[in-house]
Amino acid sequence: MRLNKFLSTAGVTSRRKCDELIKDGKIYVNGKVQSNLGTVIDEKKDVVEYLGERVNLPSSFIYLKMHKPKGYACTASDEKGRKTIFDLLEDKSVRLFNVGRLDYDTEGLIFLTNDGEFANSVIHPKFQIEKEYIVTVEGAMKESEFAVLRKGAVINGERMPSARVTPISFDGKVTKLSVVITEGQNHQVRRMFEAIGRDIKLLKRVRIGSVHLGNLYRGKTKPMTADEIASFLK
Ligand code: URA
Repeated sequence: MRLNKFLSTAGVTSRRKCDELIKDGKIYVNGKVQSNLGTVIDEKKDVVEYLGERVNLPSSFIYLKMHKPKGYACTASDEKGRKTIFDLLEDKSVRLFNVGRLDYDTEGLIFLTNDGEFANSVIHPKFQIEKEYIVTVEGAMKESEFAVLRKGAVINGERMPSARVTPISFDGKVTKLSVVITEGQNHQVRRMFEAIGRDIKLLKRVRIGSVHLGNLYRGKTKPMTADEIASFLK
């Protein structure tokens, strides 16, 4: 098995991030640093180590969906000492990682797993998985602003990927809209709105692919169904 596939299947992190760990010389095979991306190992015999610990293939995979609240960081340990989404897990005995990220101030749907191959099939840009957000901004939005977002806002000379943007409601004070993107650049939705001079009051992810946040309570997790998992593994 290729070393990157072994590491991601073992739940170290997603395949792309495993590639970075290998290139950065963080992975040892049989006691020696192995920084060659093409490395193939014998998973039954070879000893693979990361951060001084042996990496093993898990005996079973776990797939959770979580309703991340605002005010939690999507990281295993936050350098600013803030609360993390892992503090919300009831069972902390299994090592899981988050599939992609939501900003500290964003709420909504995020997956947690120990299956790096699954994570790869959700976050790799080549799979073009849709992510839907409900964005709340102050005031009424102009048609010209929608047009910019749909075409792809330009930020520092760089055009952002286009988005599907649909107004939902305006109550005289705030506008709610649905924004669907398939790319996952850092702070992408906030940056799109910054580009049109709008501050987002609330950002909530409500869907990843065909999996909806539904009525999952804030801070709670629920196992994904077999169909939900399979929908990303096609
Ligand atoms: N886009 C953002 O700007 N923030 C998120 O948390 C997710 C998408």
